[in-house]
Amino acid sequence: MDVRRIIDILRTGQAKEAAEIRGWVRTKRELKGFAFLEINDGSALANLQVVINADFPDYEVVLKSINTGTAVVARGALVASQGKGQRLELKPSQLEVLGDADPETYPLQKKRHSFEFLREIAHLRSRTNTIGAVFRVRNACAAAIHQFFQERGFLWIHAPIITTNDCEGAGELFNITSLDLTNPPRTEVGEIDYRQDFFGKPAYLTVSGQLEAEAMALAFSNVYTFGPTFRAENSNTSRHLAEFWMVEPEMAFCDLSGNIDLAEAFLKHIFKTVLATCPEDIEFFNQRIDKSVLETANNIVENEFARLTYTEAIAQLEKAPRQFEFPVEWGLDLQSEHERYLAEALFKRPVVVTDYPAKIKAFYMRLNDDGKTVAAMDVLAPKIGEIIGGSQREERYDCLEQRIRGAGFSPESLWWYLDLRRYGSVPHAGFGLGFERVVQFMTGMTNIRDVIPFPRTPQNAEF
Ligand code: 4AD
Ligand code: MG
Repeated sequence: MDVRRIIDILRTGQAKEAAEIRGWVRTKRELKGFAFLEINDGSALANLQVVINADFPDYEVVLKSINTGTAVVARGALVASQGKGQRLELKPSQLEVLGDADPETYPLQKKRHSFEFLREIAHLRSRTNTIGAVFRVRNACAAAIHQFFQERGFLWIHAPIITTNDCEGAGELFNITSLDLTNPPRTEVGEIDYRQDFFGKPAYLTVSGQLEAEAMALAFSNVYTFGPTFRAENSNTSRHLAEFWMVEPEMAFCDLSGNIDLAEAFLKHIFKTVLATCPEDIEFFNQRIDKSVLETANNIVENEFARLTYTEAIAQLEKAPRQFEFPVEWGLDLQSEHERYLAEALFKRPVVVTDYPAKIKAFYMRLNDDGKTVAAMDVLAPKIGEIIGGSQREERYDCLEQRIRGAGFSPESLWWYLDLRRYGSVPHAGFGLGFERVVQFMTGMTNIRDVIPFPRTPQNAEF
């Protein structure tokens, strides 16, 4: 007998076919003369209904051993369902319990649980409708991302997770050390002697694979990273994680406008593909989580993104018919409320803001001819704010060296990065997409902790 995934049975199964399914019981309903089990194997939002008649061998004993959460194998025949809500159901000839779940203690009983509560049982929450749907959509987003780049000849490169540079220069680094922290070796002047540490100097978890991606782009033309990145930023918001996944394409022979074009095509591709591959899950989010999920997704696929410079954005914010909590002033960074005003209220679609003041952006961004702005671009999305950050890179040796010094780094520590400007330097550009933010956007989930399986945030690294 073929083992079938429930999604395949729901899509293509036929009455009278024999089938074996394996999954977890979502609910058990006992009626007079028969009982219904709803079985889910994670392949789809929908369950497969298993109907057991009272003449099933040891009916009472079998039913008693099966509860919400029990892992079962059911073998039998598919039959056309008499009831509403499903086309087919399974009439088992054999039912095997693989692992039971004590109804007194199993935390996922049939009722609505808050997302806060589910976070405390992150090891079990994927067995719920909403979180299950999130991770199927997350998977579909990841597949769509690889497909987009692979079809365009981008090489997937693997940037290191352990690094000795601070790409963003924001000092949000997690240190990595094998020194004994209770008694570290000291230099003559009493500082920690990192020469004796594992790597011979201070090392960190990477905040971005960009610098290494640039090196690879200057050999392969078009590359992308897709991996975990880490930020020790102590912000407890619904959009920040200490460990998150980032997608970073990097293109040689590309300027800022080519970079924006790619970002727009990229987001459109992800939304279009996931709408096509996960229609049931997206429909579920649209009904149960956020009524604008489908509209937002279609809006992204169909409309051109708005594009404006930072200077124009400041002008728009200054004449906005509302008050902001944070000041609006040329030279200050945009806050989330400003970003959301632009994307949600003013343009009602994703907005690309370009040419930010050099002072508030990272050292690697290319200085514009005005001497005070850089060729940066942020894509701002309704409800989320910044979803992509990128730029054309400074490809001129002298300018870059100056910017490195200006950021408080020593050119020696970035000797290899400067080398890329000494040997075969070309204009190049790239961006970083926060993967969890795109999953949030796609699903309408309000908290980023609910779109990554095991979130890491300040004071929290359970599981
Ligand atoms: O804007 P960021 O800091 O840009 C970079 O790291 C560049 N090196 C990217 C590049 O040009 N290759 O981060 C990129 C994106 C942000 O737009 C945001 O979506 C996401 O990463 N992000 C976070 N997502 C979750 N939690 C955090 N703490 C995040 N910080 C940034
Ligand atoms: Mg940014």
